[in-house]
Amino acid sequence: MSVAYFNGDYLPLEEVRISPLDRGFLFGDAVYEVIPSYAGEFFLLGPHLERLERSLAAIRLPSPLSRGEWAERLVELLRRNAAGPGHDLGIYLQVTRGVAPRDHAFPAEGAPTVFAMASPIRPLSDAVRSGGIAAITTPDHRWGRCDIKATTLLPNVLARQLASEADAMEAILLREGRVIEGAASNVFAQFGDTLVTPPLQDALLPGVTRALVLDLARECGLQVVERELDEAELRGADEIWLTSSTREILPVSRLDGEPVGAGVPGPGWRAVHAAYQIAKLEEVQRREEGTA
Ligand code: PDD
Repeated sequence: MSVAYFNGDYLPLEEVRISPLDRGFLFGDAVYEVIPSYAGEFFLLGPHLERLERSLAAIRLPSPLSRGEWAERLVELLRRNAAGPGHDLGIYLQVTRGVAPRDHAFPAEGAPTVFAMASPIRPLSDAVRSGGIAAITTPDHRWGRCDIKATTLLPNVLARQLASEADAMEAILLREGRVIEGAASNVFAQFGDTLVTPPLQDALLPGVTRALVLDLARECGLQVVERELDEAELRGADEIWLTSSTREILPVSRLDGEPVGAGVPGPGWRAVHAAYQIAKLEEVQRREEGTA
């Protein structure tokens, strides 16, 4: 049974009831986070909570909980979902502007709605490890503040559906010939020893995984450059990777039906993926010892 957190209570997911007047439902007036945990311990919880606070501030919604209170509630949610060895869970956390009569402007009063649930994180399959994944490209139809992790995801949903219909796992979004990010991931392209990813800007989400992967890639000896990346360059990359908290680092071996580089996951991905697994283990160990 999956246990959810809802406005201060822990209860079975099926028992959560959200009002139709909730502004998250009516307007998508809400922000969210997806935070991974391994063997019952959070990975990169601090950066996720920092980003949550930035998203809340950007939509002018005061955080209903302090950093410590968020952590305490989420750790308890993991515990109640019996997370443990071999049981990796992603926590989905959403904060909406709450329930109010329908009017676009902010309500004068009312409390935010806070909802969180746990879902399994599946390890990379052998097929993906050896063969990589397929991705497509599609125009980016989103708004100008994609740095806010908002729940208004209709363009992302439509892009991901296009990918699914093309038997691909992700859609890479393009704006005026530039690579922006994936529908639910950040994008990296490797050219020889150089790893390129688009710089942080309002048009894309500052991925928590992206930040770690930049550090790990440097440690693995790659030269890391944050700069604009053209569509044509992407198509000529030796390797393409997609990063997110639930899928970690995915090697793209086919883009719009064409092979990427050698058409299989490359040595850059193998090295950084291995470094990522070590970083996970080390943080889980530090948390178990209480030193994280
Ligand atoms: N999405 N860009 C977009 C548009 C995303 O939705 C995500 C993650 C990322 C990667 O961010 P991070 O490394 O912090 O997870 C980039 C989550 C996983 C989701 O919507 O389910």
